[in-house]
Amino acid sequence: MIVIEKKSKALKIFFSLSILLFNILFLRANEPDSAYIFAYGDENGEGLYFAWSIDQDNWHTIGNKYPFLRSDYGRWGSQKRMYDPFLFQASDGQWHSVWSLNDTDGAVAHAVSSDLVYWKPQSYPVLMPHGNCLRPEISCDVQRKEFHILWHSDKPEQGVFHSFTGDFKHYSPAARNDQFESARRNVSIAGRQQTGTLHHVSWAVIDRLIQAQRLSAYKQILNEERVEMDHGQFKEPVTISISPDIRKKKSISDLLIGIFYEDINYAADGGLYAELVQNRGFEYALSDKEGRDKNWNNRTAWSVINADTFLIDTVSPIHVNNKHYAVLQIEKTGVALVNEGFNGIPVKAGEKYDLSLFARSPGKTRGRILVRLTGKDGEIYGETTTRTISTDWQKLESVITATRTANDARIEVIPQQTGRVDLDMVSLFPQKTFKGRKNGLRADLAQALADLKPRFMRFPGGCVAHGDGIGNIYRWENTIGPLETRKPQRNLWGYHQSFGLGYFEYFQFCEDIGAEPIPVVAAGVPCQNSAHHGCVIGGQQGGIPMEEMDEYIQSVLNLIEYANGDAKSEWGRKRAEAGHPKPFNLKYIGVGNEDLISDVFVERFTMIYNAIKAKYPEITVIGTAGPFSEGSDYVEGWDLATELGLALVDEHYYQPPGWYLNNQDYYDRYDRSKAKVYLGEYAAHVPGRHNNLETALCEALHLINIERNGDIVEMTSYAPLLAKEGFTQWNPDLIYFNNTEVKPTVGYYVQKLFGHHSGNEYISGNIIRSDNREDIGKRVASSFVIDSQTNDLIIKLVNLLPVPVSSSIDLSDIKIADSQSDLTVMKGKPDDKTVRPEESKLTVSGQLEYELPAYSFSIIRIKTNI
Ligand code: AHR
Repeated sequence: MIVIEKKSKALKIFFSLSILLFNILFLRANEPDSAYIFAYGDENGEGLYFAWSIDQDNWHTIGNKYPFLRSDYGRWGSQKRMYDPFLFQASDGQWHSVWSLNDTDGAVAHAVSSDLVYWKPQSYPVLMPHGNCLRPEISCDVQRKEFHILWHSDKPEQGVFHSFTGDFKHYSPAARNDQFESARRNVSIAGRQQTGTLHHVSWAVIDRLIQAQRLSAYKQILNEERVEMDHGQFKEPVTISISPDIRKKKSISDLLIGIFYEDINYAADGGLYAELVQNRGFEYALSDKEGRDKNWNNRTAWSVINADTFLIDTVSPIHVNNKHYAVLQIEKTGVALVNEGFNGIPVKAGEKYDLSLFARSPGKTRGRILVRLTGKDGEIYGETTTRTISTDWQKLESVITATRTANDARIEVIPQQTGRVDLDMVSLFPQKTFKGRKNGLRADLAQALADLKPRFMRFPGGCVAHGDGIGNIYRWENTIGPLETRKPQRNLWGYHQSFGLGYFEYFQFCEDIGAEPIPVVAAGVPCQNSAHHGCVIGGQQGGIPMEEMDEYIQSVLNLIEYANGDAKSEWGRKRAEAGHPKPFNLKYIGVGNEDLISDVFVERFTMIYNAIKAKYPEITVIGTAGPFSEGSDYVEGWDLATELGLALVDEHYYQPPGWYLNNQDYYDRYDRSKAKVYLGEYAAHVPGRHNNLETALCEALHLINIERNGDIVEMTSYAPLLAKEGFTQWNPDLIYFNNTEVKPTVGYYVQKLFGHHSGNEYISGNIIRSDNREDIGKRVASSFVIDSQTNDLIIKLVNLLPVPVSSSIDLSDIKIADSQSDLTVMKGKPDDKTVRPEESKLTVSGQLEYELPAYSFSIIRIKTNI
């Protein structure tokens, strides 16, 4: 029964695909030269729809509410809305659409298209800074030779207003318009009255819309294809023969596999950063979670024993960037300030923990501080006593040796005196951090990253890098220097960034694991999904004001000096003071993160790029091409890169299995004369957003296809990397963890295998299959690379079929040095989440016979004398 259902599903997909393809390619009726289109939206603000008609009476929708254009303004979810779209065709043939974003913001949205299918990136000019812009319309003022934008407003005053623009960059100030006559029309489409705009167009325009919608539906069907297949479809055994041609070698990037670290899912504080005290600086703020959690404030994770409460004060703090501290008013010695860590402090018997805190006390009799690690019932897991508290802020340090192993310890800070005691920056670090670094990283997590053998590390985000609003842009200089002087801030993913893990620590970690550092700075604009945060508009918020751009650009240049400058230079000195006089040898810098490639972006990106190139021509600037594998930001991002002559472009896409199965030639199509690709973020996503063998095999398949294109694809990094169980904002992730365990996913092992078995030369090979069925063809892939340092030939084979595949690989041209090769295999069922690589030996000869297990990824590593 199940088999029949699966078969009929496969047949259904096959027939729908065939009909769609037939429609797209061959359906041509006896069409008119011209007809009408009607452009309209709906009350949900989902996008711009079209219907066509020959007689303005019978209307045919193009797709069932298929949005040809969607609003990209503001936050995901409720804010990306298009209300009352209005379409206008200018005399040069360009189509302009304007729409209202909501009933609160004083901006209209504008986008332009030459064919109604491809729309250039949107802009959101603020026309009514103190009002709103409703039901906007656009026309051309023939006399002024300018576009005329009109809109209604009901705040602060009611009326119709207008503005003129010649270039959609500069707008005349809003003025009242009393002679407004709307050009909107009403028509009945599928029995419903719709308001929109009517246009008489050539049939070719309509045909293009129809074909575009069909193509999109076709792509969707392809994307819905899953890896799991029915055994019954494979009556005949599947065999392949592969003949790699050693004469067809090409150099490929030796930086292909790297990591992208972002502080998402509590990856930093409570994660990779080994600090065990939560909210050590008392700087958590309601605004970190935008007021949603009233318990998230300066007191989070803290409590008091033997007193009713403790106070938070800001008078004369340790540093202006670290304003809050705790105050204990002690009437009788024994009052303790208690921190619960990140849901418990994990300690190991016999291990040492570095304690530090800042304290001061105004009184004449001041005491030492007893600091204890305790269990829930008060049992003591270790303790120490500091020096005597001073009247001014002073850092007190000591070491606690844990007497027990426990996951639920807490830390008690017990001043041995009465009177007022101020406390700040209470910190506890295991001495066993990664490589024993002070202020270091959690050893097990950092090791899991190092084990991937990443050739580079991109940091500190992602969206975290460009921030939720201009005020939230990640400023690297706030994250260096003494910990008590760093300036913490809200993390865009809804929590707090102490910046204890800052730029110095990132650079040092890269050095420790032999990875090229790739810092990413905002391109002068925040995330296009930003909320308002005090700005009149959300989204890109118009970017950093031009008068502040010099300062911002200088900060980016300072970053390069910090990494590479002489220890005597202004910023190089800060690096040296932090303990690293030698440069970090920075070679790359990312500017921007999948931004909206608007005019606002282009202007700022170009300024930053030019400034870096002028001062540091040796640094490779990595551009950005939007959040998707196609669409306007992708196209415009690439166009900008080509125009500026960028060397590398950062691409991002999270796609379902079907996309990976059906886009194996994605990079084969790339123009080799343009910039190279850094695939900075990708992952296979299935419904439920798990990481399992299906997603891992799709990623392996993609990486195999990328190896073949390793001449154009320079780097790749899966995203996101880390996620604390119970604290995720995004799934799937590569490595899950809790306070004591590291839980790599199936996808982690695929990355690790590629990291350990990468090469720098690619050998082309012919594959001949026993069966020419396309569904079989796209589920079996191979790559042959040579690691010229070891002379090893590395064969990677993916089988996404439910049956084994017998392969016969012609190695007769390869001089095999050792007939015992290393075989590593990952195999299982597509939804397995626990698959791990299994290692064994495989005897190889001139004709290698190897059976690829069903749903598997195999790597054969052969010693050669090439
Ligand atoms: O990887 C998670 C997020 O995905 C990144 O922050 C962002 O760049 C992308 O949208």
